[in-house]
Amino acid sequence: MGRHPHVIILPLPLQGPVNCMLKLAELLCLEEIHVTFINTEHIQRRLRSCSDVESRFKRYPNFRIETIPDGLPEDNPRTGDRIVELFQSMEAESQMILREMLTSGSLGPNSEKPPSSIIADGFFSFAVEMAEQSKLPLIYFDTISPCGLWAYLCLPRLIEAGEFPFRDDDLDAPVKHVEEMECVMRRRDLPSFYRIGEIDDVLIQFIMREAWELPKAQALIFNTFEDVDSGTLSLMRTLGPEVYAVGPIHAHLNSRLAAAAASFYGLWKEDKSCIAWLDAQPPKSVVYVSIGSLACMTVDQSMEIWHGLVNSGARFLWVHREGSIVGPARDDDKDIPAELAKATEERGLIVGWAPQEEVLGHPAVGAFLTHGGWNSTLESVAAGVPMIGWPHFVDQQVNARYVSEVWKLGLDMKDSCGRKTVEEMVREVMDVRRGELLGRAEAMAKLAESSVKPGGSSYADLDRLILDIKFGRF
Ligand code: UDX
Repeated sequence: MGRHPHVIILPLPLQGPVNCMLKLAELLCLEEIHVTFINTEHIQRRLRSCSDVESRFKRYPNFRIETIPDGLPEDNPRTGDRIVELFQSMEAESQMILREMLTSGSLGPNSEKPPSSIIADGFFSFAVEMAEQSKLPLIYFDTISPCGLWAYLCLPRLIEAGEFPFRDDDLDAPVKHVEEMECVMRRRDLPSFYRIGEIDDVLIQFIMREAWELPKAQALIFNTFEDVDSGTLSLMRTLGPEVYAVGPIHAHLNSRLAAAAASFYGLWKEDKSCIAWLDAQPPKSVVYVSIGSLACMTVDQSMEIWHGLVNSGARFLWVHREGSIVGPARDDDKDIPAELAKATEERGLIVGWAPQEEVLGHPAVGAFLTHGGWNSTLESVAAGVPMIGWPHFVDQQVNARYVSEVWKLGLDMKDSCGRKTVEEMVREVMDVRRGELLGRAEAMAKLAESSVKPGGSSYADLDRLILDIKFGRF
């Protein structure tokens, strides 16, 4: 077993987690660990058409992909507002198929190369029992933020203390029962689905199960680094499993491959034309705007953001992911106010999907108006770009608060995207507090860079993880 480590990687079938897990897979492959990556058929089809993941991994004979159905019809939307359907169908269908593969199928103990451990997304609570049944060690890779995960893990205590459910009119009350968050967090800074107000809501039940099951794993991997998250990582270490902080994982892979933006596994085709457009803009003059792969906004919200961006006077590059603006569609361009159309032509660009790591690393980019997904947040941290958070769900509320109040790398719009707020926040980041925010963001980026170099904390943790896998600890 010690000489033939073979890790099964089971990502949550969403853009951020799949991308993170593929990067971890590549880091393990570089160390000659065998990896079987479990993709859903839906994700595999999209990766094939947008990123050609198979040709990228051809260089690693120790890597293979196996696919399983996610249980949903192909045309079922897998967006943020319908995400529970995906979680439920995976739990009902994909889980059974996986168990069979691990007990008597292609990944079973009698297969040609039996697995030695499982690395699963922390959201898959069923992985604990599945690993026990297959007698395999389980490592959870929580691809969301550690601060967001900590907010999940504290849910049972919030319920016990009577602090959950919240009332909608009490969102500014400080959080009292979540260790390490008490001084900075209000109820509105906790994951948005804590506002649902029902303990038996499906999502709340998923979170409760994650809180119970996660400490049963043998180890936890986080996409973060000590200098940014030492407080939360210390709390995670009290849970029991061994903790490895190996991020920012995109920078880590780039560093070990000695290549910038080595690989991004997009589920949409990147529009690279924005790089030529950025090349023509002055240094630090552009606000990059994106709400990631799952969040949506209404037509009204998009108009508020658009007015705010234009009124701020800044240049902007804005990602309109297909299907991300919902509600009654405008008839056509004639419905767009003339001042917005004119300003966009003069100093803006709208694309369907951007090469984000490259965009954030571009000298023309001065700020990132982001939904605060953990990958986007870390990519901005690593690029030294100050942020304006407009969080939607999952860990994003927590991340935006940490960005503004703990790390002080930007501002948090939280529950407002009115044009006045957007305008003021853009002016503040790009002009009024530019020196201060940029200085801190650049200092944090240096720490991120050192963490993934030899001698850095993430570099050391990844080496430790690799040795622990190679020598049969997991
Ligand atoms: C989801 C949740 O929304 C988030 O809160 C959680 O932390 C991870 O899972 P997602 O919406 O996918 O995240 O956002 P994020 O984590 O930021 O990941 C988006 C990824 O897509 C980033 O790696 C980003 O670089 C990439 N991206 C986004 C592009 O490459 N191009 C784009 O135009 C937009």
